[in-house]
Amino acid sequence: MGRAFDWLDKKFRIKAPHKGFLRRRLPPGLSYFYCLGGAAFTSYLILFITGLMLSLYYIPSEMEAYESVLTIQREVHLGWLIRSVHKWSATLLIVFILCHTLRVFISRAYKSPKELNWIVGCLTLVSAFASGFTGYLLPWDQKSYWATTVGTSMAATIPMMGRHLMYLIRGGMDVGGSTLIRFYSFHVLWLPVTMAALLWAHFHMIKRLGIKGRL
Ligand code: HEM
Repeated sequence: MGRAFDWLDKKFRIKAPHKGFLRRRLPPGLSYFYCLGGAAFTSYLILFITGLMLSLYYIPSEMEAYESVLTIQREVHLGWLIRSVHKWSATLLIVFILCHTLRVFISRAYKSPKELNWIVGCLTLVSAFASGFTGYLLPWDQKSYWATTVGTSMAATIPMMGRHLMYLIRGGMDVGGSTLIRFYSFHVLWLPVTMAALLWAHFHMIKRLGIKGRL
């Protein structure tokens, strides 16, 4: 493994410019609680890979979405496993992010100079929730249909612009084919790309500002 990596590094030359970062001294008092951010990132990567695999068989159409999920579940080789891993890592991502946020809050790492990283973290949290919400509709069964109908109708309670907002989210008056396509697009494209950009900013600031020790 080491030799293979060295060979690759000779071509890519990634080790040298990152030496300072990889050999950085950590502050005293770090514990397993500081692994929660990394655990969340691992869940994100698993979601990304299993999501790519599911997208090979899922059909985002009103007439075929439900059937395509059944095909993944029953006919595609190991499809049931990939789908379960995707669902479980989505749940774990939310659990890890919430625990990580709690750790950051308790160690008061949200204070200056890290306030912008806290804000970026909050936006990542919102994107993760939105990914879960949009993904929930994709199986296109009764449960997902009604959950989305209830969830999106909440937007209509916002004064003045509520109904317009609900129309915008659903792509029409009711939850239907255009909602499915809209949610699919957000779930596989807009939100993962947004999250990747936010995580890049998150890690960049951690690299530059360091980690606050002692919980
Ligand atoms: C997918 C989502 C997230 C990932 C993958 C992630 C990842 C990480 C990692 C790897 C670290 C460094 C190690 C650690 O402290 O655990 C970190 C630090 C930090 N995170 Fe996150 N994070 C996420 C979400 C959030 C959220 C929701 C917040 C706050 C609302 C947040 C705020 C921070 C702050 C302020 C730091 C610096 C902590 C310090 O200096 O001690 N992060 N994050």
